[in-house]
Amino acid sequence: MVMARKEDHLRMRMEHIRFGKEELERRRKSPVHTKAEEIDAQLAEHNHVYIVDPRLGFNQRTFRFWINRRSAGEEMEFSGWQLGHRHTVEAVIYVLKGHGYSVIDGIKYPWEPGDMICVPVFAWHRHHNESGDELLYLAATTGPLSMAMGIAIYEEEKYPEYWIFAQKGEEAMKTLIPGGAEIPAEARVKFDSSKWKPEKSGGANGPTPAEIYYRQLAYAEGEEKRRRAGKVLVKGKNLQFGSTPMGRVAYAVDPALGFHVKILNTLVAEIPAGKRSGAHRHIYEETNYILSGEGYSIIEDQRYDWKKGDTLVIPVFAWHQHFNTGRETARFLAHTGRVAMESTGYVHTQQGEPADY
Ligand SMILES: [Fe+2]
Ligand SMILES: [Fe+2]
Repeated sequence: MVMARKEDHLRMRMEHIRFGKEELERRRKSPVHTKAEEIDAQLAEHNHVYIVDPRLGFNQRTFRFWINRRSAGEEMEFSGWQLGHRHTVEAVIYVLKGHGYSVIDGIKYPWEPGDMICVPVFAWHRHHNESGDELLYLAATTGPLSMAMGIAIYEEEKYPEYWIFAQKGEEAMKTLIPGGAEIPAEARVKFDSSKWKPEKSGGANGPTPAEIYYRQLAYAEGEEKRRRAGKVLVKGKNLQFGSTPMGRVAYAVDPALGFHVKILNTLVAEIPAGKRSGAHRHIYEETNYILSGEGYSIIEDQRYDWKKGDTLVIPVFAWHQHFNTGRETARFLAHTGRVAMESTGYVHTQQGEPADY
């Protein structure tokens, strides 16, 4: 039994009141700029380098961001050759250099530089390096959020001693839902998902408590289908750029484009030579990896000079605007936690000065 004293309850209550203001301070102290040289120096020592991660002191709660390097023919992760691995986190991979393919839920996807792979949650996947040269790729994964929720499961083919579900038979191996997606026959009879339109329901004509509960029982089965129906591969050459108040942007991985992501979204932004992006701020986390170009960003009231290979970590609700001072088009690979924040209803985006192109 947990016995707390009166002072403990008072202290805990004050924590709620203080949290918001203290969080501002944590955001202010969180690192913003990681330079290409720092990443290169670590890549010279080891192949897998975490760039943005709460374990490195970043005040980042939703996703981490890392880079992996492999020499010619060397395999990409401790993947294995039959199943590979699977996890209850979302993951987006961006190929910087080299070529190869991924096998995800039994389907093969070839990739080359500029391509991206969005791995459905808990689908077995393995990545294979076919490069005759070095392979370099970036990844954003939502491990921090899954770990905070206590539902982070990583099942690696090579480490069956840490499996939680996979050893429980054939069905458990095939499902994309931890514990299986099969629903009781009774739920199937009592809940017809094709007939229920929640947005038009309510009052006497609304669903009964039983229908709401049977919908819950049926949820995992539907979720498994949605994961399998979602898109996986993004070909860099097919990115659709368009003008926005923030500048030229191509959404790459986004629910709006048919990807079944609930937390992460990914886009590429472009700033022509001599131009500036729009300024905005938003209540979600964002990392920007500079794919090309050089310039500077104003983040709140600080200036950060960047070039190819640098990473900018935008604190939640910090104003940011980017300026291209170089001769070539600057390209940013941006990952954000916008999708998760839309589910909670916390997203608020404010637009400042628009882009000048
Ligand atoms: Fe993975
Ligand atoms: Fe932003």
